[in-house]
Amino acid sequence: MSESSPVQPAVGGPVLFSERLRLRPVTLDDTAAVQSYRGRDDVVRYLTHDPLSLDATRARMRVSVEHWRRYPADWFNANFAAELPAGGAESDGKRVPGAGRVIGDLRAWNLELDASGPATESADVFWIGYAFHPDMQGKGYAREAAARMVRWLFDERSARELRAIAWTPNTASIMLLEKLGFRIFRELPAELEEHPKKLPAVHLRLMRSDWAAAQHKHATRQSTSRTQTEES
Ligand SMILES: CC(C)(COP(=O)(O)OP(=O)(O)OC[C@H]1O[C@@H](n2cnc3c(N)ncnc32)[C@H](O)[C@@H]1OP(=O)(O)O)[C@@H](O)C(=O)NCCC(=O)NCCS
Repeated sequence: MSESSPVQPAVGGPVLFSERLRLRPVTLDDTAAVQSYRGRDDVVRYLTHDPLSLDATRARMRVSVEHWRRYPADWFNANFAAELPAGGAESDGKRVPGAGRVIGDLRAWNLELDASGPATESADVFWIGYAFHPDMQGKGYAREAAARMVRWLFDERSARELRAIAWTPNTASIMLLEKLGFRIFRELPAELEEHPKKLPAVHLRLMRSDWAAAQHKHATRQSTSRTQTEES
């Protein structure tokens, strides 16, 4: 796809609500907001790309919008904007009027970004990734957004396994993933790393069966504590 080819904003695609956030397909209008964090050294330190200029961000957004235009599909590359809705998120799935502030973005994919082919060995195995604006880190937003996307993948996209890669010094990301139930299944020493950053890396995964068991345990715990409150 040429960078100058006209790309319409994605109109379809899922809109996901969490307690405080709305996740929706990215559009070209998100370029400045995304560049405000993906253009920063401290944000890209453990990402595979260098700080992005406005033009480079726009090119990246065009690719993401193109992917959404092909959605729904079994093989996809889904880039969500995480937005603080102007009027607050609604958990019943209704659209909140008015533009909100984009504070981060997340991606789930089983198809390579350049659409050249599968990124995993099976359509029910996905990679996930994310980046948030430093002003909005340390508030639990990234975890909340990632948890919502994970639920979407398991509940609505029939995922069997989710995977993520983090460079070992990226403790914030590894902690986030472990709090979601991901576990390390592979450790790569720096010398095996193909990326010029040459950092050691870990691969983490979350199996559908483990996620479902954790959801069941959580629901049981909540119902027990509700019963105890009612009885007291
Ligand atoms: C990785 C990244 C998304 C993590 O962001 P984060 O804001 O630290 O992650 P979380 O949303 O899980 O927030 C966790 C913190 O919020 C705090 N917090 C505050 N309010 C909270 C709430 N309501 N719920 C949950 N946590 C809350 C937690 O206590 C925790 O702080 P702690 O780490 O001091 O214990 C962020 O560092 C980032 O964008 N990095 C750059 C890009 C990147 O590296 N991406 C990953 C590549 S593998």
